[in-house]
Amino acid sequence: MASQYPIQTKQTPKSTSIKDWTRSDAYHNSFLIPQDPVLDAALKNSAENGLPEIAVSTAQGKFLHLHARSIQAKRILEVGTLGGYSTIWLGRALPEDGELITLEINDKHAKIAEENLSNAGLSSKCKVIVGPGHDSMVSLPSDKKFDLIFIDADKPSNLKYFTEAKRLVRKGGIIIVDNVVRFGRVADPQESDHNIEGVRLLLNGLKGDMDVDATTIATVGEKGYDGFIYAVRN
Ligand SMILES: C[S@@+](CC[C@H](N)C(=O)[O-])C[C@H]1O[C@@H](n2cnc3c(N)ncnc32)[C@H](O)[C@@H]1O
Repeated sequence: MASQYPIQTKQTPKSTSIKDWTRSDAYHNSFLIPQDPVLDAALKNSAENGLPEIAVSTAQGKFLHLHARSIQAKRILEVGTLGGYSTIWLGRALPEDGELITLEINDKHAKIAEENLSNAGLSSKCKVIVGPGHDSMVSLPSDKKFDLIFIDADKPSNLKYFTEAKRLVRKGGIIIVDNVVRFGRVADPQESDHNIEGVRLLLNGLKGDMDVDATTIATVGEKGYDGFIYAVRN
């Protein structure tokens, strides 16, 4: 019997600008993510204090939040706090007795993040540790495992962070690394800078790594064309 629905045909490719993706994010967000005065205030406070506008996008923040919720995360580690925008999204996924530790090298970023976390009512659950992220990770004991680790700091240290993250995350836990596609430049042999090389080093480290199972997923949207590495600890 013939299907009552038309068969999906291949869509005609269209060259897509950041303006198109920004509109697309806004469109989808308007159905799925209500206006949020606390998150808006965090971004405003960060911008007014001169922090760079490099937080995850709204949709990416919600994605992190949903992941943390879906695995019922009780302990989360973040590397790279900035003004705590992603921290708020992740912290809100925690149960009452949950805990989030976020690592930040910059005193000013950490101070603004603490203000924003306080405004979000998350100070009791979310602790900012100031210092070089790798040193802070090394000092964390491996007997209290994390359910989810989000790596979003200096990209040249990606592999170092990932190696520590493997020690600190529980079996079946998730490690997510931001900014691994970089407008497709990571895959372009003509391109090179310290951020791109940091991602390539991580990818080389992951190749054949039996400790994790990983994939890259594109995160195209208002922040441009980028991606998350998403890894599950074996
Ligand atoms: C992309 S921003 C983090 C954005 C944040 N995760 C969000 O989405 O709201 C990167 C942050 O990592 C911090 N950072 C850079 N190098 C670092 C290091 N060696 N250790 C810890 N934090 C570092 C920067 O100061 C900056 O605040």
